[in-house]
Amino acid sequence: MNLRGVVLAGGTGSRLRPLTKVTNKHLLPVGHKPMIYYPIEKLIGMGIEEILIVTGVEHMGDVVGLLGSGREFGCRFTYKVQDEAGGIAQALGLAENFANRQPLAVILGDNIFQANLKAHAQRFLAQGSGARLLLKQVSDPHRFGVAEIRDGKVLGIEEKPAHPKSDYAIIGVYFYDAGVFDIIRTLQPSGRGELEITDVNNAYIRKGQLACDVLDGWWTDAGTFDSLVRASDCVIREPPQ
Ligand code: DAU
Repeated sequence: MNLRGVVLAGGTGSRLRPLTKVTNKHLLPVGHKPMIYYPIEKLIGMGIEEILIVTGVEHMGDVVGLLGSGREFGCRFTYKVQDEAGGIAQALGLAENFANRQPLAVILGDNIFQANLKAHAQRFLAQGSGARLLLKQVSDPHRFGVAEIRDGKVLGIEEKPAHPKSDYAIIGVYFYDAGVFDIIRTLQPSGRGELEITDVNNAYIRKGQLACDVLDGWWTDAGTFDSLVRASDCVIREPPQ
């Protein structure tokens, strides 16, 4: 398939200190594997063979040492350094040369979930252009990007709203056409000083080019102590497909 894969594994991991004082969050154990294995295996499970790993300069050596060329996984890795944690959209902007005008499947390195993504990838490729996001109903939507939904359509997304307009979180799996890089170039840093992926997704909504699916099975992030424990629990109880 022409889809190329991106795992975003930068950021500071500040919510997991001191676990992340001398290592990268995505190298921490989840069940019996390092966290970053799970998003990589999801991309490979869609039939993707070319995968870009973006991470910070501090731990790039350890990430490359762990993952190597991709031979052990049956894929090819490319690596790119994000000099500082300037946000998810900034990290994705580094993928432009790698993408080479092909569509992308992007997974945040701390998103762990059960379902296979193949059917979602096929629906994205069938739509021909634009973006496709995955949603999941959660009990704590204020921790995530939250979709405002009417008649099955996403009208807008708010990043970590104090008063969420629904309990549908935008999970960290995104499908984008090559136009995503033009959108990223227009972004301004948010209040927390980051280029926000939510601003990218709202730009697609404004163009009428955003589609969504609801993800089956369990899903969690793993960026806090509670969610890291939950992620390990989930992968041991019901292993990802
Ligand atoms: O988990 C889903 C949520 O992820 C979405 O619902 C939100 O809309 C999205 O903004 C994001 O929220 P978080 O606050 O949880 O993102 P966090 O800063 O923890 O970053 C998530 C991953 O993105 C992290 O594991 C690595 C990558 N990342 C993040 C930043 C800030 C980078 O590669 N570079 C960065 O600069």
